[in-house]
Amino acid sequence: MSIVLSGIRPTGNLHLGNYFGALKNFKKMQHENECYFFIADYHSLTTHPTPDDLHGNVRQVLIEYLAAGIDPETATLYIQSDLPETAELYLLFNMNAYKGELERVTTFKDKARKQPDNVNAGLLTYPSLMAADILIHRAHKVPVGKDQEQHLEMTRTFAKRFNRLYKVDFFPEPVAYNFGEELIKIPGLDGSGKMSKSDDENSAIFLADEPKVISKKVMKAVTDAGPTKMNSPKSEPVENLFSLMKAVSEPETVQYFNDLYNKCEIRYGDLKKKLAEDIITFIEPIRERIKEISANDAYIKKVVKMGKEKAHISGSKTIKEVREIIGFREFN
Ligand code: ADP
Ligand code: TRP
Repeated sequence: MSIVLSGIRPTGNLHLGNYFGALKNFKKMQHENECYFFIADYHSLTTHPTPDDLHGNVRQVLIEYLAAGIDPETATLYIQSDLPETAELYLLFNMNAYKGELERVTTFKDKARKQPDNVNAGLLTYPSLMAADILIHRAHKVPVGKDQEQHLEMTRTFAKRFNRLYKVDFFPEPVAYNFGEELIKIPGLDGSGKMSKSDDENSAIFLADEPKVISKKVMKAVTDAGPTKMNSPKSEPVENLFSLMKAVSEPETVQYFNDLYNKCEIRYGDLKKKLAEDIITFIEPIRERIKEISANDAYIKKVVKMGKEKAHISGSKTIKEVREIIGFREFN
């Protein structure tokens, strides 16, 4: 049995990328492993230091997690700031994290470029906080999308470094994981890049989107002028639509449109119409559950309390041992 952990930042509603990258396989694993799923609210401050409604965002992401199939009785579903042991482990990791290696992380460089007026220490040390999230439960497997591979490499670096410096075999070396499948990148609808909540709203399909909104977004998705030669390679925007289709549609549907493409008989309008229908069918039950759970404050409160208690049992055990290992001891 492995310890599995994943997390999402509460910076907006969940989209199909989050679902396929981090949630779908977690859902499958939760009954066979010891699973933790958390809402990375500390992390969200690295890009959104003064959020308009942090509590509301955390609540929304929690609801969407539950609606997407996380079972809070089986897995431990908690809020990062409800486990302050994470912050202590982060502080300790930071003592052995070096400026040079942190500055080389791609996501840091990207974010520094995107928010030049706010290149804060939290952004620089994002990987040590993420390592603390994972290692506070001594997790082995981390279901994430492809974009998180480098962060997992940093987590292994911090785990190995800790073991070496303090001469212990305490932390595992966690791996990015997708249930035996390749790590996935769900593209956006704007023709390039991954689906993300921080980009243009029209590029992402959210789990809470109404059917009409989904149709509108998909019909507006970027394509190209169409194939002119049989069996020609696809342009990035068209490849992206096929990737989305692979995620939500039956394999026969993908095959059907692929054949049409190869024969230069494809009509992108038809492809988009079918894609929109399949996304709507896929999201429908999740959206319904989002509505149901949103109306049940007592249930949400119960889930949060239960998650906090369960996370604390595991987190406090780790931090106690870490303190012992480093040499913070009680006076007798
Ligand atoms: P966003 O990029 O929209 O801000 P997060 O950074 O909070 O989302 O990502 C949370 C999880 O969802 C991570 O495991 C990340 O790898 C995964 N994820 C986000 N976008 C995608 C995507 N387009 N394809 C696959 N996985 C994704
Ligand atoms: N960095 C992740 C993201 O942006 C979110 C995250 C924070 C996370 N801590 C984590 C994911 C621990 C997995 C495990 O997508």
